[in-house]
Amino acid sequence: MTDARTTVPELKLNDGNAIPQLGFGVFRVDPAEATRVVSDAFEVGYRHIDTAAIYRNEEGVGAAIASSGIRRDELFITTKLWNSDQTHASEALKTSLDKLGLDHVDLYLIHWPHPKGGHALEAWQSLIELQQQGLATSIGVSNFRIQDLEQVIAETGVTPAVNQVELHVEFQQRELKAFHAEHGIATEAWYPLGGGEVSTAPALLEVAKAHGVTPAQAILRWHLQTGNVVIPKSSRKERMAENFDVFGFELNDAELAALAAVDRGEAGRRGGHPDEL
Ligand SMILES: NC(=O)c1ccc[n+]([C@@H]2O[C@H](COP(=O)([O-])OP(=O)(O)OC[C@H]3O[C@@H](n4cnc5c(N)ncnc54)[C@H](OP(=O)(O)O)[C@@H]3O)[C@@H](O)[C@H]2O)c1
Repeated sequence: MTDARTTVPELKLNDGNAIPQLGFGVFRVDPAEATRVVSDAFEVGYRHIDTAAIYRNEEGVGAAIASSGIRRDELFITTKLWNSDQTHASEALKTSLDKLGLDHVDLYLIHWPHPKGGHALEAWQSLIELQQQGLATSIGVSNFRIQDLEQVIAETGVTPAVNQVELHVEFQQRELKAFHAEHGIATEAWYPLGGGEVSTAPALLEVAKAHGVTPAQAILRWHLQTGNVVIPKSSRKERMAENFDVFGFELNDAELAALAAVDRGEAGRRGGHPDEL
């Protein structure tokens, strides 16, 4: 088994904790398959798992953790508060912890700002308390727009450690990333590989070819070198291994510039929009 702790670099968070920069996402992993998938991911070397209450696979993730024999302090487990639970985050986290079989998560995120509901600030205040109670080591948000971040920071004085957002080579979120950098918020990329269809931009194919790696590996390397936390998902063990094998090569400045130019701005967005969800 790969020694994940020496392979995967960690990023320091603004609360003093650290997050492994490469993790494993389980969105759209069938609950019935989750234990097998996460057990495979552990065997490949992943120690950072990203789930959410709405994925309905926290129990399967928990079973894989329980049978893995991996020490709790070697794992980094994230789950997320679903939109309809924003007014009762404490109960929602306790339900997630029960399903995961854990007494704390390493990172708890508000899944969406959900402006239609209007409870994101209340949820953030609850997450601050949950962190103080030790139920979540770090707390953050997901899909927050600049105005959502500004609101929670201004109202509570507590800056989210992480904002997990859609981000890939064709949708690079430059403005949001600049705001994150200014405020010490780590950027975590969902749909890191584009969510299904890996980009076929010629510049990407060229970079991959130059290093003798797959386009997916070149993309993940780009994420790592541009400071993102990444959580690619695959249900196939060979792809899990491919996506983990991204520490043996380095993109040069010209290659990074070529990939920067693949950005299509808003036209590159593939997932849901935080204004609407
Ligand atoms: N916060 C949010 O709102 C939010 C939203 C979406 C996702 N997420 C998180 O982000 C994680 C990653 O996003 P995602 O799973 O949606 O998308 P992704 O990781 O960008 O892409 C996953 C897709 O790419 C395929 N794939 C994986 N490795 C590949 C490779 N090496 N070559 C070619 N295809 C490959 C997978 O198929 P196979 O499984 O068949 O290999 C799957 O269809 C999620 O699992 C979840 O944890 C968060």
